[in-house]
Amino acid sequence: MAKPKVLVTRKIPPPGLEIVSEYCDLDLYEGYEPIPNAELLSRIRDKDGLLCLLTDKIDKSVYDASPRLRVVSSYSVGCEHIDVDEATKRRIYVTNTPGVLTEATADLTWALLMATARRIVEADSFVRKGLWKHWHPELMLGHKVHGKVLGIIGLGRIGEAVARRAKGFKMKILYYDKIRKRDLEEQLGAEYKDLEDLLKESDFVTIHVSLNPDTYHLINESRLKLMRPSTILLNAARGPVIDQKALAKALKEGRIAGAGLDVYEKEPIDLDDDLMRLYNVVLLPHIGSAEIETRSKMAELAARNLISVLKGQMPPHLVNPEVLKLRPLSDVKMM
Ligand code: GLV
Repeated sequence: MAKPKVLVTRKIPPPGLEIVSEYCDLDLYEGYEPIPNAELLSRIRDKDGLLCLLTDKIDKSVYDASPRLRVVSSYSVGCEHIDVDEATKRRIYVTNTPGVLTEATADLTWALLMATARRIVEADSFVRKGLWKHWHPELMLGHKVHGKVLGIIGLGRIGEAVARRAKGFKMKILYYDKIRKRDLEEQLGAEYKDLEDLLKESDFVTIHVSLNPDTYHLINESRLKLMRPSTILLNAARGPVIDQKALAKALKEGRIAGAGLDVYEKEPIDLDDDLMRLYNVVLLPHIGSAEIETRSKMAELAARNLISVLKGQMPPHLVNPEVLKLRPLSDVKMM
């Protein structure tokens, strides 16, 4: 039987490509940068499967170009770059890589929190520029972390992992979520708040929701106004959850103390963005899951998701389970 044809849109870490090529006829886009759209549309034409990244926009035009496509496996937990509803209508399976990157992303959030609160990036640059002449009681004063109030927006896997870290710092944990999680409240000692109260009462606010129409600009100008001048805002989830212009304005006017960001409304962030000129922000290049071990696990999971569907087996992480009713796995099976 001929092997299924699969397009992988970037070189992913081992063992991802090894797994895919064991079972499939692999077409790999070798560029370091995202695959150009025209190339994606041309190379997807004869493919049964696609393994894509969060930088690839997978929409109707991709589905129109690929009449044989059975599965889109994303090397990411977030799926807002994929038109999942349209995939379901076209009976295409969509998978993602949750779980394996939870602790890595929580660690990175914590690194952002500490770096922003204690001005680590600014202090490093101060030393390298030769500006450090004396120890001084007021040199690089930052914000206390231990025992402060942490407000978590979105108590899913990653929000919960961040809360576990906060316990070690004896922080008071507040959370807001669409769904109240009473079991976690008990386990973590977390207190449920509505969003407005959480913003008013927290010293640190950290975002861990996925991006969807309900969370777009969840943190907007009026909600930023609820926060205190001493509060630090962190985002390692998705950029468009915050109105970035409103955030830059709030930071410039000293209405909040600082921000630690790993994600932006547009990535990469423009060099002339207002945030670039502010010292009370730490800016990272979307590296939440960027650990050697974690990226390998994501690659393996993305490959296993893809292969499972093509084998007619339930993938470890199916994003659109409704598709099962429209096209059973037995009908998708190619090997
Ligand atoms: C990273 O942002 C991911 O969604 O995996």
